[in-house]
Amino acid sequence: MSDAIENAKRLAAQRAAELVSSGMRLGLGTGSTARHFVDIIGAKVRAGLQIICVPTSEATRQQAESLGIPLTTLDDTPELDLTVDGADEFDADLTLVKGGGGALLREKIVAAASKQVVIITDRSKQVDRLGRFPLPVEVVPFGLEATRRLITKVAADVGCTGAIRLRHDRDGRVFVTDGGHYILDCAFGAIPDAPALARGLVAIPGVVEHGLFIGLAKAVIVADASGVDVFGDL
Ligand code: 5RP
Repeated sequence: MSDAIENAKRLAAQRAAELVSSGMRLGLGTGSTARHFVDIIGAKVRAGLQIICVPTSEATRQQAESLGIPLTTLDDTPELDLTVDGADEFDADLTLVKGGGGALLREKIVAAASKQVVIITDRSKQVDRLGRFPLPVEVVPFGLEATRRLITKVAADVGCTGAIRLRHDRDGRVFVTDGGHYILDCAFGAIPDAPALARGLVAIPGVVEHGLFIGLAKAVIVADASGVDVFGDL
């Protein structure tokens, strides 16, 4: 990852951290951009910020614990004030594609439990039309091939075609999510109607969740070398 992109991610994270104040219940996202945010929150906690947080993945939990950030669960704290997370793509409607890091299920549960969701990204995630990034779909291992066929059919019905690949990790093993599921990455190229695709996908029994986040983000903070832009309302 280039220094310019890392700097942009950090800049977006810093802007989001300005939204956090003592007493807040905070959702902590997953991925390289959210990692910057968690680092900044860790420093603020060491400086006296009083918050409780719900992590969206085991990776973020480990990072937050190592920084001394107080953690809770959605069972003990079922409503959060704010979640800050990254995204793989976003469009002008603030519809997102998420799940590149494999945490989309917990990310969506945490986002849905939050009064506000703010997304932090570098400029490369901004698209005119969603679908350049392969859409992650979390599925149960049982019936994988049948589920893949149904995804192919449902997607074609709403104008989405392309290879659907089972995700593997860097060592060539099948990637398993924190929830014990698999991920199918759907290289549709373009998604003409995200709500219609989302409706089709959730109706498939083997699909646990998909990476389309529709109507969840209140704002997207985008950074590049020239500074920070905000889409939506902070
Ligand atoms: C993880 C996600 C991430 O938010 C998304 O992949 C963005 O990651 P990064 O900030 O590393 O580009 O959805 O499941």
